[in-house]
Amino acid sequence: MAFTRMKNQIVIHGGANSPSTLNPKLREILSQIDPEKDALTMAIKPVVKMEDDPTFNAGTGSVPRIDGTIQMDAAVMSGDGFGSVICIENVKNPVLVARDVREKSPHIILSGDGSVEFARKMGYGYYNPETEKSSNMMKQLKESLKNNTLPEGFRFMIKSSDDTVGAVARINGKFAAAVSTGGSFPMLRGRVGDSPLIGAGIFVGKKGAVVATGIGEEIMKNLLSFRIYESIGTESLSSIVQREVDKFKVSVGIIAISENEYSVYANTDMANAMVEY
Ligand code: GLY
Repeated sequence: MAFTRMKNQIVIHGGANSPSTLNPKLREILSQIDPEKDALTMAIKPVVKMEDDPTFNAGTGSVPRIDGTIQMDAAVMSGDGFGSVICIENVKNPVLVARDVREKSPHIILSGDGSVEFARKMGYGYYNPETEKSSNMMKQLKESLKNNTLPEGFRFMIKSSDDTVGAVARINGKFAAAVSTGGSFPMLRGRVGDSPLIGAGIFVGKKGAVVATGIGEEIMKNLLSFRIYESIGTESLSSIVQREVDKFKVSVGIIAISENEYSVYANTDMANAMVEY
């Protein structure tokens, strides 16, 4: 019996609202990654590179909270496990800590001070992810907040600033995904987005891998990544993704991969790249 194995594929995005002019940078990131057999490693590696690049809203370059602090969310998932960190501070690569939560702790999610304490125990030293861009954002926000503790219509001011980075991978028929973000600017300290929540910003199973980017509040309410994952196999992946994304009135994007397809779709700009081998 003839058997055709699908090629290995990795798809990455630079966040809802990130311009397509970043596509060459994303392609470059993928070209720097040496192939490995483990799907999770292949999803995490490009996310680490995006966290280290101040262009993106993840790791170095994360947007600030309304009080000027930087808290980051990240998650990793493969067919056999999930790990995430919520509102972690002062680490260089939240996605690596999320992997350690999955592999070296009895838990699947750690948040706040506990996630920082865990990171230090795992050997991740103090790191300040602030950049000139994030401190300028903070200056502008302070200016607009001068006479208010919270801007009027705060809820509706939430607009993504090159939100979340993410990756999905199919390697030797196995799926994995990784996401990382500084969140949606402006936001309160302690605010949690979709990225570190299983089924909201990320989901992986036997049928494929899905990650979301965009306004986390709306993505969470719709359990978007799980909803898309559940539909895999009912029609083409592209049709499923497009239909679900088009339901949103706020900026949302998806990258997804299944046994024999991948899909990249957003209702806004979303830099992306794909490599196969
Ligand atoms: N999509 C990332 C966030 O809302 O935090």
